[in-house]
Amino acid sequence: MARGTRRSAWTAAAVTAAGLGVFCAGRGTLDWPLVAASLVAACAGGIIGSLGQSRVVRAPEHAASTRHSVAEALLANIPDPVILVDRRAVVIEVNPAARALLPALKLRHPLSFALRAPDVLDGIEEVLRTGAGLKTLYATRVPTERAFEVQIGALPMPDGAVGGQPNVVLFLRDLTSARRLEAMRVDFVANASHELRTPLASLLGFIETLQGPARNDPPARERFLGIMKSQAQRMARLVDDLLSLSRIELREHVPPTRPVDLTRIARQMVDTQGPLARARGVTLTFDVDGPHPILGERDELLRVVENLIENAVKYGGSGGLVAVTLGRQTDAATSRDGIVLAVRDEGPGIAAEHIPRLTERFYRVDVASSRDQGGTGLGLAIVKHIVNRHRGRLVIESAPEEGTTVRAIFPEFQPADLAEPAIEPA
Ligand SMILES: Nc1ncnc2c1ncn2[C@@H]1O[C@H](COP(=O)(O)OP(=O)(O)OP(=O)(O)O)[C@@H](O)[C@H]1O
Ligand SMILES: [Mg+2]
Repeated sequence: MARGTRRSAWTAAAVTAAGLGVFCAGRGTLDWPLVAASLVAACAGGIIGSLGQSRVVRAPEHAASTRHSVAEALLANIPDPVILVDRRAVVIEVNPAARALLPALKLRHPLSFALRAPDVLDGIEEVLRTGAGLKTLYATRVPTERAFEVQIGALPMPDGAVGGQPNVVLFLRDLTSARRLEAMRVDFVANASHELRTPLASLLGFIETLQGPARNDPPARERFLGIMKSQAQRMARLVDDLLSLSRIELREHVPPTRPVDLTRIARQMVDTQGPLARARGVTLTFDVDGPHPILGERDELLRVVENLIENAVKYGGSGGLVAVTLGRQTDAATSRDGIVLAVRDEGPGIAAEHIPRLTERFYRVDVASSRDQGGTGLGLAIVKHIVNRHRGRLVIESAPEEGTTVRAIFPEFQPADLAEPAIEPA
């Protein structure tokens, strides 16, 4: 009898797992709930099997308990919370992820003590009434805002066990990051369209003026054409920046493999930007003690130096000096040597609340002033992705009236990293 009970418990487990699997597949979800269902079912089977322990021969009992331990161990490693309750919604089994999410969860206590979610509790009742699985949502506000999809399924028990009534298994899938990503994507599309729409609207306005009132006014036509050209250039720059951002993001997980000399790259950009800085009344200095090879992509590193110098000149140029320095420094956090490229200005600085957001796409402290200077607000986002790809760090230090220093810190190149330590010409 006990053996029969246990066998039917394992059978029930398998049937439930298959049923939940079909349910999941039908809803187009991931495969892991099926795996988890099998494991919960296996645990339940193991628990029920152990009820008849005294009346069975030792060898099969041993096999069942081994299976039960394996199933429990596997369940413990599922990163998402899994909870098994009986038909009165009293907790029978939980995995560590569920305990971490709901510290108030206790075995043999009603689920409602730990999970105050009417939709989930109603869902359990409905699943018990209809026998069909369902999905609902559960959201927490404290300590942080999180959202979960809760998949609820019936777990039929064999005759004789827990009054022959099915138990219920709950799988919680964390939707928080997916929702954040979705919100970021929506924001990004809204921002990009907004940035493109502004110059586009101005272009359309000027075209209408040129077709109408200014048709026979050569001086006005010249002036308007000049403005139209700069608006079109702004759109082109925005599209270029968006494209390079997505190209860099695509390759962010593949670090560069060839050594380049950061000194030569920085010097080249300082030489290019020097005259532009001088034209704005800014002195650009460069202080370096020799070559500094790092594993890098020359074009990407040129963009980093270009943007940092450009920002310092554009937004910090009122201080009259922009100093670029390059040197080796031991990173206190990792005790590894890093190559630090620092760009310092003596301009108005940046208030603390803006600093963590400067590398967000389209974030600008003063949108109008950035736009007037032809900025798209994508520069530091591109810089950050490039630095990440080079396994480096970007550190922005600034205080109002005290200027700004932006540091890009790259891992120092060790010749041992490569079979051929040839330095790519910069
Ligand atoms: N050295 C600096 N001093 C003061 N503010 C700065 C400095 N560097 C950046 N900022 C602020 O950070 C914002 C974001 O810079 P970012 O380089 O991402 O965009 P941008 O310069 O406006 O546009 P783009 O780089 O595309 O031309 C700038 O608009 C500016 O408000
Ligand atoms: Mg910039």
